[in-house]
Amino acid sequence: MSVHRQAQRISVPQLMACKGERKIAALTAYSAPFARLLDDALDFILIGDSTAMVGYGLPDTLSFTVEQMAAHAAAVVRSTSHACVIADMPFGSYQESPAQAFNNAARILAASGADGVKLEGGEVMAETTRFLVERGIPVLAHVGLMPQYVNTMGGFKAQGMTDESAQRILRDARAHQEAGAFGVVLEGVAERLGREITETLTIPTIGIGASPACDGQILVTEDILGLSGSRIPKFARQFADVGAVIKTAVEQYASEVRDGQFPGLENCFGVKKT
Ligand code: KIV
Repeated sequence: MSVHRQAQRISVPQLMACKGERKIAALTAYSAPFARLLDDALDFILIGDSTAMVGYGLPDTLSFTVEQMAAHAAAVVRSTSHACVIADMPFGSYQESPAQAFNNAARILAASGADGVKLEGGEVMAETTRFLVERGIPVLAHVGLMPQYVNTMGGFKAQGMTDESAQRILRDARAHQEAGAFGVVLEGVAERLGREITETLTIPTIGIGASPACDGQILVTEDILGLSGSRIPKFARQFADVGAVIKTAVEQYASEVRDGQFPGLENCFGVKKT
C-alpha cells in the first residue's frame, strides 16, 4: 500500500475524535464493486461476518473462516482509499485465548491491509481486546445482540430489556473501553440503554438497532439497498430498491439475447464502423 493511500484514509484516531463532534456513518461491504461505491460517503466500512449470511446464503455467521475474511477484506481495501476499513474476527478465531486472537487478527490485517478488527463478546473478552490493542491492533468491540452467540442466546433477539441484562451490557461496553477498544458496536439493544451507554462512554458507540443517540450508525448494505430478499430487519431502512433495478436490467438483457438484439455489431470485433 502506498504512503499516498494511507495518508488519505480515515484513521482509527480520527474515528475516535468524532465523538461529540459529528456522527459516524458506516456500512458493511465484502466485495470490490460495493466497496468502491461506498467508499467516499462513509467513515468506515466493515467487512462483517454477516457476509456468511448475505453473501453466501448461510443461516448464521458461525462457519465463516479467517481465510474467507482475509480474502474479502483484501478486496475491500484494494477498492477503497477514503474510508477506514475494519474486519470482523470470525467465530472460533479469537475466543480461545488472547494469543490465538492476536495470531488470527494479525493474519487478517497482514493479508488485507485492513485498519483494525471487530470482535464480539462481553466483559470476558476485554482481556483479549487489551492484548490486541497493546500489541498494535485497533479493536472495535461488539456487545448486546452478538450474532456469534446465536446458539446461547436462542436466536437473534434484542438484548438489554431487563435491568439486569442492561446493567450487564453497560459493564461489557465499559470493560472494552477500559481495555483500549476504539469504539463499541451496540447491536439490538433497548433504545434507552443505547443512549445511556453512549452518554457514559468516552469512545464512540456505533448503533445497529440501538439508538439515534449513538455516536454513529452501521447497517448491512444489502438491507438498505433492497438486496436482502423480502425481509428488512426492524432496525434497518431501505433507501433504494437496487434489487428491482437489477431484476429489470437482467430481464431486458435476457429478452434482447433471445430476440437477437444483443449483441449489436457495435459489440463485435473486426467490424468497421459505417
Ligand atoms: O457482521 C456484521 O455485519 C456486523 C454488523 C455490526 C453489521 O457485525
